[in-house]
Amino acid sequence: MAKKNRRFLLAIETSCDETSAAILDRGSILSNIILSQDEIHSPYGGVVPELASRQHIKSIDYVVGESLIQAGVDLEEIDLFAVTQGPGLIGSLLVGLTFAKGLAYYFRRPLIGVDHLQAHIEAAFLENPEIEYPVLALLVSGGHTSLYYLKEPLNYRLLGKTRDDAAGEGLDKIAKFLGLGYPGGPVIEKYAQGGDSSHFHFSRPRLKTSGYDFSFSGLKTAALKIIRENNLTREHPELNNFLASFEEIVVRSLLENLARAIEEFSPQSLILCGGVARNKRLRTRFAELAQKNQLPAYIPSPRLCTDNAGMVGALAWKKYQAYPEVSLNLEIDAYPR
Ligand code: KG4
Ligand code: ZN
Repeated sequence: MAKKNRRFLLAIETSCDETSAAILDRGSILSNIILSQDEIHSPYGGVVPELASRQHIKSIDYVVGESLIQAGVDLEEIDLFAVTQGPGLIGSLLVGLTFAKGLAYYFRRPLIGVDHLQAHIEAAFLENPEIEYPVLALLVSGGHTSLYYLKEPLNYRLLGKTRDDAAGEGLDKIAKFLGLGYPGGPVIEKYAQGGDSSHFHFSRPRLKTSGYDFSFSGLKTAALKIIRENNLTREHPELNNFLASFEEIVVRSLLENLARAIEEFSPQSLILCGGVARNKRLRTRFAELAQKNQLPAYIPSPRLCTDNAGMVGALAWKKYQAYPEVSLNLEIDAYPR
């Protein structure tokens, strides 16, 4: 299937609760349509997997069509298809994967499978292709909290990941418990503004390891205990202090591991990515840590932090550049984790 001068790539992302499609021209984004399902899941305080898959099925053709219209590209002109294989919700992943396979099969164009977590990291390279390796990348999202070491392009070494809840999941669960809505991260950020982050003290269970794993379920339990002991509710005057303190301890736990990894791995650059990387407190503390270590720090712009097909397309293009012998590849499968 070798074909010279491949140019237009259509990428699809449906791993969780965003239906997204993007068109790229030689690796540059022409369009990146993201249809969020937040309103559908909000009453439940978290993503309901079956509702997510059903909504992807309803939205996918519209989202793909819109990405082509905005890019001014015809479907027949697409040279390569790309899709998220995992990790994510299996039903949701299968919608995007099946749709992409159908297109690749019909148009006889290669299909490139992409890892969702690696794509989050790639979002930083989209806006900053000059990032120097080796890189330490901290990925913080609703489903994952992971620290990666990239010695060179496309070489991912997982240093540590969460043993229980992801950081975003912790924020979402506390927001749900307080009846603040979903997704919890942005609401907590709003309430926490102006709050005193040293007001509430969180006892933090230490992980019995010298590795780089994270844990957030202990913090969640500590937060629930404080909520109960202080009768905290939505209307409580101390709520902003509590949420600022909780946000602060989550941010500190995340950056502690990164700080240790900087010592051990002496990277050239730092990346912060994933949905929680939209958080201002985390962005600021991350930048401070980088400055202290005299390292350049990169965070994708907020729109590219949350799930989007643009980052999937960017990684697919990088893989294609490295390995141009692509094939129809219809046997690729989805993986939940
Ligand atoms: O990367 P993402 O869009 O989806 C996953 O792959 O999980 O991340 C979603 C997560 C949610 O937990 C949400 O609460 C969190 O990102 N989030 C934030 C902010 N915006 C989104 N957390 C803290 N502060 C924010 N501003
Ligand atoms: Zn994600």
